[in-house]
Amino acid sequence: MLIKNLGTTLGVEIIGFNLKKNIDKNIIGQVSDLLSQFSVVVIRDQNITNEQHINFSEYFGDLEVTKAGTNGAGSKLIILQNFDEDGNIVPPTDRQRLNNLANQEWHSDSSFKKIPSKLSILSAKMIPAKGGNTEFLSMRSVYNALPKKLKSNIEDKVCWHDYSYGRSKIDANLVTADEKKALPPVKQKLVLNNKKYGKSLYIGAHCSKIDGMNDDESQNLLDEIYEYIDNESHVYSHIWKPYDLIMWDNRAVLHRATPIKGKVEKRLMVRTTIAGEASTLI
Ligand code: OGA
Ligand code: MN
Repeated sequence: MLIKNLGTTLGVEIIGFNLKKNIDKNIIGQVSDLLSQFSVVVIRDQNITNEQHINFSEYFGDLEVTKAGTNGAGSKLIILQNFDEDGNIVPPTDRQRLNNLANQEWHSDSSFKKIPSKLSILSAKMIPAKGGNTEFLSMRSVYNALPKKLKSNIEDKVCWHDYSYGRSKIDANLVTADEKKALPPVKQKLVLNNKKYGKSLYIGAHCSKIDGMNDDESQNLLDEIYEYIDNESHVYSHIWKPYDLIMWDNRAVLHRATPIKGKVEKRLMVRTTIAGEASTLI
């Protein structure tokens, strides 16, 4: 398999791959290995139907079903778009635009679920001329960059992840009472340990607080960690072209969208999410 490195510490592009043709167990195994090692895998020029997207995704595990309140609810797809059925860009106060805004915070998909997702697979259909990148942050690199003392301070910490926490900072009405009820806060380990590739931090926009600490202590410790996040050397920023497909390991990277620059043009993305197999707590 021909590959090209993208970021300094994460990201790899597979060249000459066609997921409509070249799929077998061996290839899927190789792609899985690349994901474990590089956390982000890019495959360009994959003009696929939603059905092909789902079929490909299912080689990697069971898919999450999209929750109520998200575009694509009840199906295996999440649709991210900033326009209505008639093709008009929706106003900034529209739920779709607000959800896109929420995606501009560093996050890990489904970290608010008891068993959070393993992978996400995102396919670009329509891309604005400028901006609207997706950025990936290696949480392994961030962990490795922490001072020894901070590493030992956080070693056994557990965080609360709460869907409504991050979303309500964007807009108080973005999370409905029903969603709140369906998604109670859950606990996740702060430091994950991949036996082969080492430790990484598991935080992001849904992380509301560190378990067992008061609000100030928790915020101070999180702020201490966040100081190490703003470092471009841990980031790969993807400039999309239509039909790019990106897969990422939600337990090794955080990701975020960047704002569209200039005139807001249509952006349409389709995502599947591969369910995790185990809690982070064991
Ligand atoms: C996602 C996501 C970011 C983007 O699909 O999970 O966060 O750039 N997308 O659209
Ligand atoms: Mn996301």
